[in-house]
Amino acid sequence: MNSRSLLRSSVSRRLLRPVADLIDQRIERQVRSTVRRTGAQAAPARPDTEQLVRDVEQLRRRQLTFELLVGPHGRGVSRMVGEASLEHLYTEVAAMSGDRDAAERNVASAFRLLVALESLGVGRIAGGTMNICGKLGTIPLLDPPNDEILEIGTLYGMFSAGLVRMMERDGRSPNLTIVDPFAGVQLQPGTDERQDPTGTPVDEHAVRTNLGLAGPAGAAARIRQGFSEDPETRAAVSDRSYGVIVVDGDHSAKGVAQDLEWAEEIAAPGAIVVLDDYGDPSWPGIKEALDDHLKGDTRFAYLGKAARSAYLRAS
Ligand SMILES: C[S@@+](CC[C@H](N)C(=O)[O-])C[C@H]1O[C@@H](n2cnc3c(N)ncnc32)[C@H](O)[C@@H]1O
Repeated sequence: MNSRSLLRSSVSRRLLRPVADLIDQRIERQVRSTVRRTGAQAAPARPDTEQLVRDVEQLRRRQLTFELLVGPHGRGVSRMVGEASLEHLYTEVAAMSGDRDAAERNVASAFRLLVALESLGVGRIAGGTMNICGKLGTIPLLDPPNDEILEIGTLYGMFSAGLVRMMERDGRSPNLTIVDPFAGVQLQPGTDERQDPTGTPVDEHAVRTNLGLAGPAGAAARIRQGFSEDPETRAAVSDRSYGVIVVDGDHSAKGVAQDLEWAEEIAAPGAIVVLDDYGDPSWPGIKEALDDHLKGDTRFAYLGKAARSAYLRAS
């Protein structure tokens, strides 16, 4: 019998069992003491990890709450602000107004107003957060020559409500005129007439509700239903010279060109004309129309842009 078969024999296994048991016990003791040692070292880390998990949970809950307030649900666009875009907007507004502190103050104040109006009003303000804050913040800083404001294309009237409030914050007494077809949806050539993400119909009732949020000046606004290019619409509201004209109706090159021609006639000397969505790749006709317009015989001088809006001053 060779040594291997000798070890495998049942007699040998019986004889060697006490030795094997002894080895097993020693291994087990070694493993237990190692586990105890590493367990003791890991113990202080456990409470930290649990705390971290609790903190992350709490942050997630807070984030969810914040998202409900300024996130995209129910309005289609987010009102979250990025540091770089905000800084860029301050610079653009300051370049036009010549006052960096006032630019920062007005943009911040416009942001709070935007969130408040969309929280309390019906529908929404159209467009990106920086563009809206830019318009609301810049217009009063450009010191329009009178308080007559015309908005061409209002959707829910909420931007106008905000502009009334921003002008009043600057000590002005705005008097608002609005022109829009109020078609039940946002009319725009070349786009689908889909229901608005807010679910609210685009009608005069919604506009009145929102203007009511801007106090007596909002409630007193003159609203003219119709297309800005229609002679009857123009005749009805061309009874004064406007200090501010916001062009935000038909976004096609032809539509913008027509609105700019009309604005030439009704802008007061020194008036501010704001052309919304200027340079927006979704609406190439807007830049095309303004660039063409400025090449011709015009009272308007280009002041600059902030986010997606161009600003002009009438001579
Ligand atoms: C982009 S929305 C206006 C958004 C609004 N100014 C705001 O800041 O929330 C464009 C509006 O212009 C209206 N519109 C379209 N064609 C128009 C036209 N020819 N004349 C006047 N308004 C027009 C649309 O129905 C829509 O209400």
